[in-house]
Amino acid sequence: MTGLYNGDCLDIIKDISNNSIDLILTDPPYGVNFKNNFYDDSLSNILEQMPLWYKEWYRILKEDSYLILFVGVKTIHYWIQEGIKAGFNYKNIIATRSFYNGSPSPKNNFGFQFQPILVFSKGKGKPLNEVDFIPTSKEWLKDKRNKNPKPFTYAYPNFWDTKICFATEKRASKNLHPNEKNIKLLEILIKLTTKENDLVLDCFAGAGSTGIACKNTNRNFIGIEINNFYYNIMNERLLNN
Ligand SMILES: C[S@@+](CC[C@H](N)C(=O)[O-])C[C@H]1O[C@@H](n2cnc3c(N)ncnc32)[C@H](O)[C@@H]1O
Repeated sequence: MTGLYNGDCLDIIKDISNNSIDLILTDPPYGVNFKNNFYDDSLSNILEQMPLWYKEWYRILKEDSYLILFVGVKTIHYWIQEGIKAGFNYKNIIATRSFYNGSPSPKNNFGFQFQPILVFSKGKGKPLNEVDFIPTSKEWLKDKRNKNPKPFTYAYPNFWDTKICFATEKRASKNLHPNEKNIKLLEILIKLTTKENDLVLDCFAGAGSTGIACKNTNRNFIGIEINNFYYNIMNERLLNN
């Protein structure tokens, strides 16, 4: 099964076979009451759905493969807790910069400074591939503990001086989706965790950024989006890219 689907991911995922997906890379709804006519974005609804999503993700992911989730700072603890409960191996948090770093109530909170990405694996997790476009940080190149200094890396990347560190896309005109993700960053996550022709799932696909990153890196893609406005953007984008 590959392709693009317009509907609720829980319905569509039922048709995906056990242990058939090489990477789940997705950006679930944030539970911030985002106004729309397609799903309930209240936190209580997202928390109710969360264990159902995790259960299906665990069923369809291949052993030793990765589940990578963009999440919000305020709900990250729920995502970690439920992921572990579902049987996933919680591995790491990647910090990315966000363009949307304003605070919802500037008088009694700090502004949001970064967007976390959670990394889980089913089982131990296979070794990451080295990719040739993440420069090693200067500090790690000079570090005495680094026995094999190389200009490119996956372990201590020089993220912060590059465009890669941004979670969100910033277009000169309006973004295609309020949470449109940075394709360069998605490409890196895909290249690190999969090989060519592997199958990647984004079940909250929005405007299809993960699909474009898969096309650019020769991976197969399943994209599911409930909102037909964004689904149509994804469809058109992938046809014309
Ligand atoms: C945070 S956005 C993802 C944006 C995407 N990363 C991009 O670059 O365009 C989450 C998306 O999930 C969709 N969504 C919410 N609930 C869903 C469900 N149950 N099944 C499928 N899609 C859903 C929303 O309509 C929204 O477009």
